[in-house]
Amino acid sequence: MQKLLAAFRNDPQFFATTIFGGQNALRPKQLEFFEKFIANDHITFKGGVGFGKTRVMAILVWWALFCFNDVKVNIFGPSEKQIQDNLWNEVGMLYNLIPKALAEEFEYTPSRAYRISSRNECFATYSAANKDNLGTVRGIHATNNFVLVDEAADVPNVVFMNLENIMSDVNPKLVVVSNPAYTSGFFYDTWEHKDISKAWAKVHGRMSDNPNMTPSKLAAFTALYGGAGTNQYRVMVEGEFPIGSTSGVIPTSAVIEAMNNEDAVAPADSPIIWGLDPNGGGKDRSILVKRHDNVVPEKPIDFGNLDAVQLAQAVYDEWRVTPIQQRPVEICVDANGPGYGVYTMLFNMGVPVRKVMAQSSPTRDPQLYSRMRDQLWWMCREWFIEGGVSIPNDPDLQQELTLPFYDYENGGKIKVESKPEIRKRNKKSPDLADALCLTFASTKTGGAKGWAWSKPIDYPGLGIYE
Ligand SMILES: Nc1ncnc2c1ncn2[C@@H]1O[C@H](COP(=O)(O)OP(=O)(O)O)[C@@H](O)[C@H]1O
Ligand SMILES: [Mg+2]
Repeated sequence: MQKLLAAFRNDPQFFATTIFGGQNALRPKQLEFFEKFIANDHITFKGGVGFGKTRVMAILVWWALFCFNDVKVNIFGPSEKQIQDNLWNEVGMLYNLIPKALAEEFEYTPSRAYRISSRNECFATYSAANKDNLGTVRGIHATNNFVLVDEAADVPNVVFMNLENIMSDVNPKLVVVSNPAYTSGFFYDTWEHKDISKAWAKVHGRMSDNPNMTPSKLAAFTALYGGAGTNQYRVMVEGEFPIGSTSGVIPTSAVIEAMNNEDAVAPADSPIIWGLDPNGGGKDRSILVKRHDNVVPEKPIDFGNLDAVQLAQAVYDEWRVTPIQQRPVEICVDANGPGYGVYTMLFNMGVPVRKVMAQSSPTRDPQLYSRMRDQLWWMCREWFIEGGVSIPNDPDLQQELTLPFYDYENGGKIKVESKPEIRKRNKKSPDLADALCLTFASTKTGGAKGWAWSKPIDYPGLGIYE
């Protein structure tokens, strides 16, 4: 047994094929990653999507638990849910492939994997990499101290500053793995910063490093991402950082912070605003988001694929069942195209609606924006960046908020990526996020700050239902 474990330790491919079977052999890029892991203490791995970055870390988790006695593997990622759905899920899947006699030595639970004979010295676990967990991050020590950060581009910088602490241990490993989506932040620096990058062993993979990626599949992906020249293609297929100023409108780190912020309380006298993004009776969903100043208290409501009449009725019903104190001072409806009918019907029903023309001129700072939609997304960005805000723990909302890129138009105005462009590379439309952005159209808030509530709410036509 000792001989076998020593062989596993020196030969990760022998380990992977013996324990998980030949069909799960390490691919060449995964083997390169493993070899660099063994030889270095800082390892950064960038790559296109879906070719095996997360999987190789799951294999590494088991390799560590098999081959080292005093080992802690700590996994970090943008959110717990993100780790559970991806890396931890792969760890569990691999556990089921371990031959029974050997699997009995180990336990895999929803939060931990460990060697049963030494559960406190030989284990793997995970947590969200956010500023509330810095204590955990700082306190990790073991002879073999392995820290793996998946989707590292989405992890806030401050976390990495604290992770460097592990370097005082005997055999520390700090691994950061990501799709290279942004040209700033710590993950970017491990590749591009002239001083920081020197310390990092680098592995770079492309979508084509997946042996199952046939030329025709690759051509389909290339088309999906808008052709070989686009930044989306670079990021998703080539696994390269985007070129130029292109970056996300809303920083992922700010969204994650808002999702983990349970302390935020909306000022009692601040107004509630609803945002409604009606669909065209077509492929998108109709979404309602409620915002109480700095807090989005509940998950977005998805009305599905209702027609305009049904949707107006459903929103009206939602309004009626909402206790008076929790009713919005305004419902901001995107009234471009199909939304116009919904807006008109709600108006005639007597609820306080605001007509928002997302495709028309901005209502402020015309030197900054050419369309209302750009203004609303930018206000939403500022709301997040200013901080102290809270959104529900909803992975879809989180993902959609971070989807749009922005750029500058000729003349320097901010241009937020359009829905069709986003749909082209994401296959879905960020309706949840758009509905939240619509709440910023209300002038009854004065933006995220500075609301002075001094007079009673004037609900037009309220009398008919009270
Ligand atoms: N060595 C491998 N052997 C078999 N399947 C693999 C291997 N590596 C990756 N895969 C498959 O590819 C899928 C995507 O890999 P993943 O690691 O999630 O990609 P990403 O690079 O996006 O993190 C995995 O769920 C798994 O099914
Ligand atoms: Mg992954």
